[in-house]
Amino acid sequence: MTTAKALSALFLASVLAGLLPANAETITGKAVYEQHCLSCHQADGGGVPMMQPELWGSRRINGPDAALIDFVLGGSASLPDEERTYSNEMPGFDHLSDAELAAVLSYIRSRFENDAPAIAAIDIAARRSGARQ
Ligand code: HEC
Repeated sequence: MTTAKALSALFLASVLAGLLPANAETITGKAVYEQHCLSCHQADGGGVPMMQPELWGSRRINGPDAALIDFVLGGSASLPDEERTYSNEMPGFDHLSDAELAAVLSYIRSRFENDAPAIAAIDIAARRSGARQ
C-alpha cells in the first residue's frame, strides 16, 4: 500500500469510527416518534378518532417494507385516492435522515401490537433514490 492510500484508509476508518457510534447513541425511535409523530398518533399510538388512525395492529406497518417507507416519506399525498381513508393530511417526512426514519419505523413496528422486522437506514436510502428516478 502506498503512503497516500494508507492515509486515506486511515482517514476513512476514523470518520466511520467517529460517526457511526455517535448516530446510534443519539437517534432513538422513541425520540423521533415523540418529536414528529406523537402530536397526531398520540403517545400510546391510539390516534384521534376521525382525525388520525391508531397505529395498533396496523396493516400498513406490518406490511411490505417498501410501501411503508414510501408512505412515510411522501405522506398522504403519495397515496392513491382509493387508499386514503382520512380527510386529514399526514405530511411527508423526507426531511428526516435515513437513520431517523429507520429508527422510528423500527420503533412503531415493535410497539402497539405490531410485530414486523426492523428497517435499516440503507433500506430508506434505497427507497429515496428509487423515488427520485
Ligand atoms: C399531522 C398529523 C400526522 C402526523 C404528524 C403523522 N401522521 Fe401518520 N397519519 C396521519 C393521517 C391523517 C393518517 C391516515 C392517512 C390515510 O389513510 O388517509 C396517517 C397514517 C399513518 C400510518 C398508516 C396507518 C394505517 O394503518 O393505515 C402510519 C404507519 C403512520 N401514519 C406513521 C406515522 C409516523 C411514523 C409519523 C411520524 C414520523 C407520523 N405518522 C406522523 C397523520 C399524521
